[in-house]
Amino acid sequence: MSNILVIDDEQGIRTVLKDVFEDEGHQAFLAEDGFKGFRILETDSIDLVILDIWLPNMGGIDVLKRIKEEYPDIEVIIISGHANIKVAVDAVKLGAFDFLEKPLSLDKTITVAENALKMETLKKENRSLKQTLFMEDRIVGSSKEMTDLYNLIEQSSQSDARILIMGDNGTGKELVAREIHRRGKRAAGPFIELNCAAIPDTLIESELFGHEKGAFTDALGRRKGKFELAHKGTLFLDEIGDMSLTTQAKVLRVIQELKFERVGGEESIEVDVRIIAATNKDIEKEIEERRFREDLYFRLNVIPIYVPSLRERIEDLDELVQYFMVRFKRTADNDPRTFSRSAMDILRGYSWPGNIRELKNFIERVNIMSEEKVISPQTVRLNLRILKSSESDEFYKPFTNMKLNEARDKFEREMLILKLADNDNNISRASESLGITPSSLHNKIRKFGIKINRLI
Ligand SMILES: Nc1ncnc2c1ncn2[C@@H]1O[C@H](COP(=O)(O)OP(=O)(O)OP(=O)(O)O)[C@@H](O)[C@H]1O
Ligand SMILES: [Mg+2]
Repeated sequence: MSNILVIDDEQGIRTVLKDVFEDEGHQAFLAEDGFKGFRILETDSIDLVILDIWLPNMGGIDVLKRIKEEYPDIEVIIISGHANIKVAVDAVKLGAFDFLEKPLSLDKTITVAENALKMETLKKENRSLKQTLFMEDRIVGSSKEMTDLYNLIEQSSQSDARILIMGDNGTGKELVAREIHRRGKRAAGPFIELNCAAIPDTLIESELFGHEKGAFTDALGRRKGKFELAHKGTLFLDEIGDMSLTTQAKVLRVIQELKFERVGGEESIEVDVRIIAATNKDIEKEIEERRFREDLYFRLNVIPIYVPSLRERIEDLDELVQYFMVRFKRTADNDPRTFSRSAMDILRGYSWPGNIRELKNFIERVNIMSEEKVISPQTVRLNLRILKSSESDEFYKPFTNMKLNEARDKFEREMLILKLADNDNNISRASESLGITPSSLHNKIRKFGIKINRLI
């Protein structure tokens, strides 16, 4: 029996899901918005969250982000009324297990929930055995782009110059920042991280500079800010592109002077801090549109470091896949698993909008959800949720101007090509998975003029 929390503003959906899950032997908890949901997460030990993407107050994506930050082991399934590629991409990038489209299908809901619960249990088991959750990755990749990056890391770690790391979601910006710290002369000092996007304007001063007892209503004791905590070490300002203009002005002042006062305090505190900033936004565009101060940009951007997306260095895919297959192998297995040749082809052709984080999540998931020693293309398709949904969006397009028998032939031909590829052109396996005889498959290959060699 598991504890499942449903966060949805529609009473009807909450009631239906409660009945469904209770029939399956689970206990259901209900919340009509994110705030109520978090209250339940704090008090009850929840295993799975079913989350509506369109919620009043705190939006579903924000709720998802916070759950993943505060309870990384809890799986989240998204319910989306307007299922589109963007929601799926965002949700998967942020670590959602899967998403369900409204109107909900009961069978689908139960299957997806059971899979997510299985994933959650095995993840927890794996982690308590190996503690992989807190193990840091080493930076993997030997493409030209990565070699250049290693050189830049090496050079810049030797100085105290400020660094601005740029790159898409999940490309490894934080990993690069930590590596620079680790190799430099401040390695023995602290590495302190501040996510500028996650802190409301009203709290940012106290976060950065700390506060004295009684500085404001909630300030029960004196508290050190991030600048002070990072003394003799590195301060990593993450997502600086999301800082408000007010905060930017405050940060600019400290960077210039490396001196500040705690909120509600008089004493001026001086610190010795190296600053590394990171952003996934196009900062020059932000400056043009007056959302980011140019003077702050120049201050932070003494050494710019660009971390390439996975697509730009797709030749590193094999190495990354091998690395994560070893990391996420099940304890009982001695050898890491592999992907079949055609499965690797799908991975190579995929766009990886969530970059290394998405690849890492995907491989952890495949290792948990599949029993195959050699991972098949079917398993890849099943677990690359974005690929699946973009395929179904596009599904009817090629058929729209056709007569029924034309469409049927086209569909049949595509289906045969797909199954043949999935089975490495092995006729008996392909025919078995199509549910027809090998000789009938041969006839159809001839009828549709499918060239087997072309597929290898
Ligand atoms: N080159 C790499 N080799 C191995 N693991 C990597 C590599 N790059 C990133 N990772 C892993 O991928 C995940 C995402 O990396 P990281 O958090 O550094 O990305 P990010 O660029 O800061 O993302 P975001 O913009 O979303 O904050 C982490 O778990 C990290 O350890
Ligand atoms: Mg980051």
